[in-house]
Amino acid sequence: MHHFQYRGDQLMCEEVPIDRIAQEVGTPFYLYSHATLTHHFRVFDQAFADIPHIVCFAMKANSNLALLKLFADLGGGADVVSGGELYRALKAGVPPGRIVFAGVGKTREEMDYALKSDILMFNVESSEELRLLNEVAGSMGVKARVAIRINPDVDPKTHPYISTGLKKSKFGIDISVALEEYRVAEELPHIQVVGVHQHIGSQITEVTPFVDGLVKVTELIVKLRQRGFTIDYLDVGGGLGITYKDENPPVPRVFAEALIAVVKDLGCTIVLEPGRVIVGNAGVLVTRVLYNKSTPAKHFTVVDAGMNDLIRPSLYGSYHSILPASRKAGKETVVTDVVGPVCESGDFLAKDRSMPVTDPGELLVVMSAGAYGYTMSSNYNSRPRPPEIMVKGDRYFTIRERESYEDLIRGEQIPPEL
Ligand code: LLP
Repeated sequence: MHHFQYRGDQLMCEEVPIDRIAQEVGTPFYLYSHATLTHHFRVFDQAFADIPHIVCFAMKANSNLALLKLFADLGGGADVVSGGELYRALKAGVPPGRIVFAGVGKTREEMDYALKSDILMFNVESSEELRLLNEVAGSMGVKARVAIRINPDVDPKTHPYISTGLKKSKFGIDISVALEEYRVAEELPHIQVVGVHQHIGSQITEVTPFVDGLVKVTELIVKLRQRGFTIDYLDVGGGLGITYKDENPPVPRVFAEALIAVVKDLGCTIVLEPGRVIVGNAGVLVTRVLYNKSTPAKHFTVVDAGMNDLIRPSLYGSYHSILPASRKAGKETVVTDVVGPVCESGDFLAKDRSMPVTDPGELLVVMSAGAYGYTMSSNYNSRPRPPEIMVKGDRYFTIRERESYEDLIRGEQIPPEL
């Protein structure tokens, strides 16, 4: 359920016509619906109401401070993967006790920062990382709370770039050697084992891979407890998929029921790291048609947003539905590639899409762009990044300004020797 719906021929975000925002802020821009964000967070959180849990929003999906603050106020925490994300989470007011830190390449400086911030726990991915974390915590005279990320070797049946729980992946510690790894942790004086972590991939549209992974992890927790480990937290990661086109992922309640059935007797606090399912369909990218271009081979709709603004179609071949902000009757249908201004053939938002012909100046709305949209954007081709706008009811707010040309060169210097 989301609040981007037509009223007559106008596509609205909640109570505001998207066309009106475009006239006032220019294009392209990202647009989020407050009501949708709130609804998605609450539905997900409430699905786990029967067990102790923390929803640590995976902020790699969308790290805008306004969204982080909204989720923090709803009781959420944050799953961070860098010092930069930790900085944002703290700035937005996420309580450190609800922050978990994942990632295969944490640096000494990042560990130091997270320990000083007193976050809930580190999700550790290798023996070497464990040893370095022990050293950093030791130098500060503290203990680092740790969950070890287990690679359960299950196939999440998603795009290979976002599958993370297969044996060949760089993530986590192979489940077959997990017990040894926990023994290593036990020997380290500045490490306090508190949990187990798994995250098997993203845009997963079935419950089975989650359950298969969790069954294995649950067996591991039983063994760890037999050996005297205290396991208070089971972090089940993120990964629940959304509908971009015709996918039919389980709704959060069905997802939660399946997971709770596996973990309910463990007595652990369950940490959840949803990203896409909260924000994906709560955001869109609004772009303006610049030109129609026909070649002997194809038709192109050239728009003012490119792969630097939304890279998912270019990088993963992802499908994003594209709708006109104002529907016009009697338009012919055309099969077109919706392409941006960037100098790469990979710069497209849609390929061979059948849609009504749009004239220059018309607005197109790229749906389901709230997750991994702005966060993966870049300045490629020296294109200033678009603003982010949030609608709440009949009002809207700029939650990040459009970048200027000055922003593009910030920090650059021409040495006097040149
Ligand atoms: N936890 C960890 C440790 C993760 O690595 C991720 C995502 C999540 C949670 C959140 O997963 P989600 O609930 O959003 O599926 N750029 C790609 C997605 C990359 C996902 C990386 N990790 C895309 O645009 O599809």
